[in-house]
Amino acid sequence: MGIGRLSDGLAPTPPMGWNSWNRFGIQINERLVLETAEAMVESGMRDAGYRYVVIDDGWMAPERDRNGDFVADPAKFPRGIAALAERVHALGLRFGIYTDAGTRTCQGLPASLGYEFRDARRFAEWGVDYVKVDWCHTDGLSPRACYAKWAMAIHAARRPIVLSICEWGRARPWEWAGTLGHLWRTCWDIQPEWSSVTAILDRQADLHAYSGPDHWNDPDMLEVGNGLSDGEDRAHFALWAMLAAPLMAGNDLRQMSDDVRRVLTANEIVAIDQDARGMQARRIRREEDTEVWVRGLAGTRAIAVALLNRGSEDRELSAGLDEVGFAATDVVRVRDLWLRSDIGARRREIVSTVPSHSAAVLRVTAY
Ligand code: GAL
Repeated sequence: MGIGRLSDGLAPTPPMGWNSWNRFGIQINERLVLETAEAMVESGMRDAGYRYVVIDDGWMAPERDRNGDFVADPAKFPRGIAALAERVHALGLRFGIYTDAGTRTCQGLPASLGYEFRDARRFAEWGVDYVKVDWCHTDGLSPRACYAKWAMAIHAARRPIVLSICEWGRARPWEWAGTLGHLWRTCWDIQPEWSSVTAILDRQADLHAYSGPDHWNDPDMLEVGNGLSDGEDRAHFALWAMLAAPLMAGNDLRQMSDDVRRVLTANEIVAIDQDARGMQARRIRREEDTEVWVRGLAGTRAIAVALLNRGSEDRELSAGLDEVGFAATDVVRVRDLWLRSDIGARRREIVSTVPSHSAAVLRVTAY
């Protein structure tokens, strides 16, 4: 494995999908996964770009088998993981799974320390396309060495598998994980609360230099549809898209409201996340309750601007063209990506009224 970023083409844009953890914890089973995969298709999420259906902690039986192999919990997954992956694949989706780099998972189940090659091989045999490797019960271990071993194990298993590094940002993984995995957590676990979304957002502001095609900062999975207000869901989703974050839905796809479905399948916001240039947004202005985030997009002189209102009242927010990288005298074309409507030509500044705890996203192009 050479020095430098991964460039195996497995995650040219941030991975998108669904993960069981945020909504279901360890209460997962075969039926939930299949119904979720079906809902992903029926809701239009697959067409919007969501691909990976990932089971998190809680899928494994309390002990390995006599050979030392992982076994799925027979009560939760009676037909086993390979059969499940096959059914997920048949829907045009990909299948992901979870393990932990230490001696036990965070929920006390068997984990992979000393079994990395065996587990990667088994995952490959099962048809796994994505592995999240967590960091509980790792006293005294070096994250860099452990995840390097995982990268080698996956390589040796000879199946294209996305490696999701879940070390919570403690050992500054943005400085070393890009050579090993496709995404790495930058922070502690997200909660379905506005204060958690904004606290995590603050931690991403200095990390934009580390992210790019095949190596993404991961500010954790989405809480859209898990109890935030509609405006908060939009702000959370919009800012994760600005950050070029992996978009892993974490709600119950089988019974989401139209509002929630509209957020998750907002094509023009998703397109920002998936922009081919893979440039994570920078926060260019921060006032007490308002922020301006900017990211460059593929194409000539195109950018996305998010105007975030963290305050409790609706506000008119603006950003000067010279602030966001144009000349003050330029004439630009502005489109509101939530409203899916062209605002038209603008000079000097762009303006939007943003509800409390919400964010507008504008696409700005030079004429
Ligand atoms: C945490 C991880 C969560 C989830 C959980 C499972 O360490 O950050 O995303 O995977 O473990 O126990």
